[in-house]
Amino acid sequence: MKAVIIGSGNVATAMGDRLLSAGHAIVQIAARRAEAAAPLAQKWGSAYTTEWERVDREADIYIVALSDRVLPELSKHLSLSGRLVVHTAGAAPAAVLRGVSERCGVLYPLQSLRKEMRPVPELPLLIDACRSEDLPVIEGVARSLSRLVAHADDAERLRYHVAAVVVNNFTNHLYTLAADFCRKEGIDFGLLLPIIRETAARLESHPPKETQTGPAIRGDRATVEKHLDLLANYHDLKELYQLFTIQIEAFYGVGHP
Ligand SMILES: NC(=O)c1ccc[n+]([C@@H]2O[C@H](COP(=O)([O-])OP(=O)(O)OC[C@H]3O[C@@H](n4cnc5c(N)ncnc54)[C@H](OP(=O)(O)O)[C@@H]3O)[C@@H](O)[C@H]2O)c1
Repeated sequence: MKAVIIGSGNVATAMGDRLLSAGHAIVQIAARRAEAAAPLAQKWGSAYTTEWERVDREADIYIVALSDRVLPELSKHLSLSGRLVVHTAGAAPAAVLRGVSERCGVLYPLQSLRKEMRPVPELPLLIDACRSEDLPVIEGVARSLSRLVAHADDAERLRYHVAAVVVNNFTNHLYTLAADFCRKEGIDFGLLLPIIRETAARLESHPPKETQTGPAIRGDRATVEKHLDLLANYHDLKELYQLFTIQIEAFYGVGHP
């Protein structure tokens, strides 16, 4: 298929790389900054433009990987009537690009993507289409890019997005606070990597609620108090530690003598 990539950020880069390695042609990249578009165009052997009126009109699919807030306004600049135009956002409705083309849809990667990270990780794709006849076309593209493809309407996609924020963004914030704690306390965050990997790996075979360990589920208040003392100077981490402890105790019905 001939694709135009609109945007030059994390998702544009990952989707372009994946499209190319799946044998599709990227005929053009459209982005507002030439310095971001030109290197991608060179890498993909495609043309590029920084002007909306010069966007190629002959492609089979247009992948709009722009910041969420730009999507509702895109039709002020771009009209691609009759062309298949998909966005990549988890929290925007499929029809947000209806003003750009009545053949609108979604190709949402349920993955955390950073353009500097190679190779592109496994990419579950949630798809949707404004018109039912376009769904098989989007599905065909999606299946050429990933073995994990599912249809999700706006409400379902938003639910996946919420769950993804919890499992990815929130855990990563915990890693950030823990890494900062380790650095300030002069201990090695790297020694925690095996336990991080093990916790994630267990999810392949067990529901998370069956694999909880630690002082909170054991009802070990003495250890919890020692930890809280140690966290006296780490306000954010201490607050989260207390909140998680209370929630784990309540979830598992842990009582205190
Ligand atoms: N990153 C992820 O992990 C991820 C995963 C799934 C879905 N998504 C979704 O994918 C979409 C793109 O995310 P991203 O992570 O690729 O974002 P990003 O790296 O910040 O890239 C955003 C792109 O939008 C462009 N842009 C921003 N404002 C613009 C404007 N007013 N006019 C024209 N272009 C504008 C940026 O151009 P400049 O570079 O010039 O600012 C850049 O090319 C979003 O809908 C996001 O929710 C992201």
